[in-house]
Amino acid sequence: MTQALYRKWRPLGWDEVVSQEHVIQTLKNAVAADRVAHAYLFSGPRGTGKTTAARLLAKAVNCLAEEKTQRPCNRCAHCIAVNENRFMDLIEIDAASNTSVEDVRDLRDKINFAPSQGRYKVYIIDEVHMLSIAAFNALLKTLEEPPPHAIFILATTEIHKIPATVLSRCQRHEFRRFPIGEITRRLSEICRAEGIQAESEALSLIARQSAGGMRDAISLLDQLASTGSAITLELAQTVLGTAANQAVMSLVQALIERNAAAGMDEIHRALDGGADARALARQIVEYLRGLLLIQLGNADQVEATADQRVQMMNHARALPTSEVLRAMRAFNVAATDPRGGWSPSLGLELAFAELLEFPKPDAEMPKPSTRPPSTAQPSPARHEGATSVTANQPQSPSSSPLVSLEAILKAWKQVAARIKAQDVNLAALLNSGKPLEVREGVLLVAFASDILQGKFNRPENLELTRNVLREILGVNLPVQGVVTSGKNALPAHVKPDGLVAAASQLGGEIVDVQ
Ligand SMILES: Nc1ncnc2c1ncn2[C@@H]1O[C@H](COP(=O)(O)OP(=O)(O)OP(=O)(O)O)[C@@H](O)[C@H]1O
Ligand SMILES: [Mg+2]
Ligand SMILES: [Zn+2]
Repeated sequence: MTQALYRKWRPLGWDEVVSQEHVIQTLKNAVAADRVAHAYLFSGPRGTGKTTAARLLAKAVNCLAEEKTQRPCNRCAHCIAVNENRFMDLIEIDAASNTSVEDVRDLRDKINFAPSQGRYKVYIIDEVHMLSIAAFNALLKTLEEPPPHAIFILATTEIHKIPATVLSRCQRHEFRRFPIGEITRRLSEICRAEGIQAESEALSLIARQSAGGMRDAISLLDQLASTGSAITLELAQTVLGTAANQAVMSLVQALIERNAAAGMDEIHRALDGGADARALARQIVEYLRGLLLIQLGNADQVEATADQRVQMMNHARALPTSEVLRAMRAFNVAATDPRGGWSPSLGLELAFAELLEFPKPDAEMPKPSTRPPSTAQPSPARHEGATSVTANQPQSPSSSPLVSLEAILKAWKQVAARIKAQDVNLAALLNSGKPLEVREGVLLVAFASDILQGKFNRPENLELTRNVLREILGVNLPVQGVVTSGKNALPAHVKPDGLVAAASQLGGEIVDVQ
């Protein structure tokens, strides 16, 4: 059997280690200055380089190169022995399978013997959080008075399980997840060296699937490469099961057409076909995220085949950004909803029905006399299941009637009182906000802080305020909270409903507005 790619690509020198500069620099300096500590604790997520760094350190402290800054040299007898897994003074212990106090006592007995080959005996104890309390205590004794020739490197993915007494005796280093870009760069390097053909979009998909861990990323690459064919995005999507499947696209299409029946059909068909409801909700959020990226001008960050891309572009044009954000929030609730066990489809149905129940921000509302605002009462979907929602007809966009800020300010007390009768929390929130201006058909309500603004800008709050304004003033006026000071303040001439505002809500900083 050929060696697994991730093993083959374990860095042999400091320079090969991707990211984790903060840790690597400290370790390098310690080796160069001959000030290596006797106990280290490396913590961090799986596959971020803890064992790799531990082996590098073990190799460096035993390296025979004259020049300390050149250690490990990977040329001397000791370095080669470590690389070939036959260096006697590097002892790797997997705490997961040696958890008992005897194992640690055994270690303690052996530790007093001088190193047989090198300068230091290095003990790497992996998954150290798995040790029993008694074993930890035994280990502690050793850490308190380690013989001068011993170095301990403890590694764990679960730092919170390590007793404080152990923590305080170790020099601690934290390993971080890798940014997507660092992983894709490493993967392309491996592909070049190994002669693997891979599309760069496929590599970023792999990187995203691996949640910031390098081992998983390289293993996924290995898995795809073993199919023997070039790694296209399509292949990656199929093998990794992330194909932006037809159900997701059809559902978003139904949302755009405001076709409730078609949407419900899609949901049921997908679930009947064996899809997991929460996984489907996650895929929908991912897809919507892609639409948002396209709308924000970052289409190049979207992984999609040419066909999918055309479809996504169409969807991104058809659905206003505010709607995309609203839909993301709604389906995100469905994706994380721990309930729904008794009715897997309910979360999805609710999300979809609620999105249709509240009209698009740019669509005209029926007059209050013909159709009472829906927010005041729970939607029918909450009671009888979403299938009872009647199909909302597509509503043609038209401009909203004009209303002056003065008129709004005059009616504001009444608006607040009416809101209070329905939602005290929102009323309290409105106490600290005040109508600022009507800009491009949107009422901006000013808040002093990001937090207040963020709370106010939840879809249900915006809808309720808008509905009450309609009841009292007879206007259809979308509402948006803004910050009047602080870093997320919306400057004049930025469309409150547009892309820049959305980007700023997502934490973007406005550098320049043309
Ligand atoms: N910082 C890194 N730079 C380059 N490759 C890395 C890095 N971290 C991990 N890798 C790759 O991932 C593989 C596994 O890394 P390593 O064993 O060091 O992870 P770990 O943090 O010890 O993970 P675990 O907690 O699962 O033991 C390495 O063989 C290497 O291919
Ligand atoms: Mg490890
Ligand atoms: Zn060496």
